[in-house]
Amino acid sequence: MNASAAVAAAVVPAAGRGERLGPGAPKALRELGGVPLLVHAVRALARSRAVGLVVVAAPADGVAEVVALLDSHGLDGKDIRVVAGGATRQESVRLGLAAIPEDVEIVLVHDAARPLVPVEVVDAVAAAVRAGAVAVVPAVPLADTVKRVESNPGGPEPVLDTPDRATLRAVQTPQGFDRATLAEVHAKALAEEAAGGTGVPPVTDDAGLVERFGGRVVVVPGHEEAFKVTRPLDLVLAEAVLARRRAADAY
Ligand code: CTP
Ligand code: MG
Repeated sequence: MNASAAVAAAVVPAAGRGERLGPGAPKALRELGGVPLLVHAVRALARSRAVGLVVVAAPADGVAEVVALLDSHGLDGKDIRVVAGGATRQESVRLGLAAIPEDVEIVLVHDAARPLVPVEVVDAVAAAVRAGAVAVVPAVPLADTVKRVESNPGGPEPVLDTPDRATLRAVQTPQGFDRATLAEVHAKALAEEAAGGTGVPPVTDDAGLVERFGGRVVVVPGHEEAFKVTRPLDLVLAEAVLARRRAADAY
């Protein structure tokens, strides 16, 4: 691997609406401590020496706004590019990936909605890919017991079974990949969709695509502060975590 190939590029899908967060701006542009979630997320990646380039997949109608936003937050010293995202997270990642130079061999994919990921997690994921894994996910053990149910929205749902919690992990981002592997599974998924789909449930993360096509995925320790801002209560928690960091070290 040459020097530029050893430096990772990161794709940040940021084109979602944030329906579950409630009415307001697109989620990536909602503020945490006065700074948009997206800016926090890009800073968290840029802080890692493993990351040389960040490609943001912005809402298709908000590319110019996102470029201006990143400039105004002093991120112009790093190599940061903005492309238009797509209708699904998977499409946004695929479009971001297409904007990464050919010689980059390690790609991280990080949700704009995970603004507080510690740099240690970013470094650990990139290091595991550099050490030879084709797909790496940071993850944490679950606090709750999980049950599989027969879906019956609005009504009682019969329980099918209860997986052994000790074997379950909640996965986070950034997820790290050998670039060729990630590009290949995204291309295969696109071809499947074009052919009318397969009837299997949709894959909700990039590592899931690697699994779907038979690749090996490994887990490294994640961090409780890498949680995803999904619902209003998550924003309350994120504000509290940020306030604690700012109090601790003038963050
Ligand atoms: N995302 C994206 N393009 C989409 C949909 C989602 O880039 N078409 C991104 C989001 O911006 C977010 C990440 O994927 O950073 C994780 O998705 P999620 O938490 O589901 O965010 P939203 O889709 O915005 O939220 P919701 O599902 O509540 O609408
Ligand atoms: Mg979503």
